[in-house]
Amino acid sequence: MTFPEGFFWGTATAAHQIEGNNINSDWWELEHRADTPCAEPSGDACDSYHRYPEDIAIVAGLGLNAYRFSIEWARIEPEPGEFSRAQIEHYRRVIDTTRQAGLKPFITLQHFTTPRWFHQRGGWAAADAADRFARYVEEVLPLLTRDEYVCTINEPNIASALSRLSEPATMQTAGLPAPDIAVSDGLSRAHHRAVEIVRTAGAHAGWAVATQAFHALPGAEEQAASYAYERETRFLQAAREDDWLGVQAYTRTFIGPDGPLPVAPEAKVTQTGWEYWPPAAAFGLRQATKIAPGVPLLVTENGIATDNDQDRLDYVADAVAHVRAVIDEGIDVRGYFYWSLLDNFEWASGYGPKFGLVAVDPATFQRTVKSSARWIDVVR
Ligand code: BGC
Repeated sequence: MTFPEGFFWGTATAAHQIEGNNINSDWWELEHRADTPCAEPSGDACDSYHRYPEDIAIVAGLGLNAYRFSIEWARIEPEPGEFSRAQIEHYRRVIDTTRQAGLKPFITLQHFTTPRWFHQRGGWAAADAADRFARYVEEVLPLLTRDEYVCTINEPNIASALSRLSEPATMQTAGLPAPDIAVSDGLSRAHHRAVEIVRTAGAHAGWAVATQAFHALPGAEEQAASYAYERETRFLQAAREDDWLGVQAYTRTFIGPDGPLPVAPEAKVTQTGWEYWPPAAAFGLRQATKIAPGVPLLVTENGIATDNDQDRLDYVADAVAHVRAVIDEGIDVRGYFYWSLLDNFEWASGYGPKFGLVAVDPATFQRTVKSSARWIDVVR
């Protein structure tokens, strides 16, 4: 398969999932509540806060040309308006190390976690949430001095659902709670403010939406459209004026007259219980371009949780072939990132699901590169 000149091939991580000891974040607090929805706390994670040079060297050694990671708001602004120069310098080193390894940095400013104080003061639903986020973005602007791709907020649609994860009623139900509309509105306002600020640095601003490949059963088209609106569509619409739009896709979801259906019993599933469905990224790209026409697209996350490395390789090869078909349709797709570089902290599921191209020993933090990590040799 040939891909457009300059196509970005990468892999992705997020600060809280790999760094360890992100103690000023709302998630750390959630993980340690007596009634926590989390299987286990994040703890030391992969110790990437200290081991990022090793991680970045691994990415470069895999033949990739881009690395997507996040910087951690909870570390940079541990108290309202109190910014840590040392933490900003830490992320400057991460970004510089990425560039020096010959990788294009794709920088996410906020990936699910927020500072505890932000959460305690109403989170994204607070009236001044966008102002607070804008103040943080202004402060980290000196990190964004070149033509980086900057993701303001990771998966606002999932973040909105996760904001209700600690409500007792939602903790009983399987799957994600419905998004909180006040949170979704706050996230959209914060995004638009951040886009304006990021552009002043000459960087390309966008956000990344979890596309869920909603499939309506015959006769349930209207239900599916309204189910999708608050969970996906409105966030793609909010990207219509952005410099780029990220699609993050893993599986598909069938919608019947009464809402989403469980995965069919005969379907092959991954460790997260999601259907093994490699066309997910391509489906998300087509959906994104339909709703935000003309905006350059990237697959900023795609992958599977599995202990079967051949399944991982097959999934990626198949997914990338579907992405190639989307490019052949004339759609402007600029890159593909596998989620994730490392086996890491998978939020409420803890360390169970293995999305990584690289295994991490929880006691020694030793990295072991899996054979699927060389997926680029198979797809290109
Ligand atoms: C998130 C990641 C997460 C992955 C797999 C996305 O929702 O951005 O943080 O680990 O999917 O669940």
